[in-house]
Amino acid sequence: MFAAFVLVAAEKEELKLPDSPADLERGKALYDGSCQLCHGPRGDGGKGANLAQAKLPRAATDADLARVIEVGIPGTEMPGAWHMTRREVTQVAAYVKTFARVTAEKIPGNAVSGKRIYEKNGCASCHTLLDSDGVRVGGLMGPDLSNIGARRSAAHLRESILEPAKSVPDDFVDTTVELKSGRKVTGKRLNEDTFVIIINDYAGRNHVISKNDARDIAKARDKSPMPSYTGKITGSDLDDLIAFLASLREAR
Ligand code: HEC
Ligand code: HEC
Repeated sequence: MFAAFVLVAAEKEELKLPDSPADLERGKALYDGSCQLCHGPRGDGGKGANLAQAKLPRAATDADLARVIEVGIPGTEMPGAWHMTRREVTQVAAYVKTFARVTAEKIPGNAVSGKRIYEKNGCASCHTLLDSDGVRVGGLMGPDLSNIGARRSAAHLRESILEPAKSVPDDFVDTTVELKSGRKVTGKRLNEDTFVIIINDYAGRNHVISKNDARDIAKARDKSPMPSYTGKITGSDLDDLIAFLASLREAR
């Protein structure tokens, strides 16, 4: 809390990111240690947002960039770097800015054709998108994709389609609760505390289960209810589908 407060106060002034070679080198070491797991070694891969672009939607100014890194984005998987000092945060921010200069993510496909691939393959039976009236339409088994282009890199989108089990978002980890009666309930874990776990099963029903009644709770991080499209969507169809997904950026 204290660090966030200091940063809010500092934002009123112009924020100057340190950009000496030594600062960038320190920024790289911090990035490699804390960020590359999600954002990829050059900022353009992994399950985090694509950082290799000239304008970051959530971090348009240097001050915003430092704040996003320091406090994270609440309600998403982007954590705050509470373990870093103010100076380290600005060093990482300066390093993140170098990605836009060296790599621009190239997405070869055609987003308009990609929309047809999306419709043809039944993606909408499990995912919602915003229609032209701003209504979310589609099935609820998978995550909403209305803003997926802003949240994930093209590399992650490709992997999600070909190998969905490789990086399952935290909210969608396949969870099986075995009750003392022997009955099993499988679905995604909506919520959990010390006493209760709430499972949303794949038919869409919620089960509120007291942990006293559970014999075992198993989370299969390497399993996804989404089918793999390897061999089913290939070549330019796959490129087009990724271009379509990458273009989905909900207006905020
Ligand atoms: C556990 C995975 C994870 C880690 C670790 C992580 N991020 Fe993120 N980051 C994300 C995700 C996911 C998003 C997109 C959040 C959203 O908008 O839904 C994101 C968003 C961002 C954004 C906003 C990009 C935009 O589109 O405006 C920046 C900047 C960022 N991360 C930088 C960093 C830095 C720097 C670090 C290391 C200190 C870091 N992240 C660590 C997952 C992660
Ligand atoms: C049977 C339901 C189902 C179908 C059909 C399906 N998905 Fe999914 N999808 C899911 C679930 C559940 C997840 C979350 C678990 C995971 O990431 O593996 C997911 C995850 C994703 C993600 C990653 C989201 C994120 O936040 O990282 C993308 C992208 C995606 N799906 C795109 C598609 C596309 C494109 C199609 C059609 C070609 C499709 N899905 C078809 C259920 C489905």
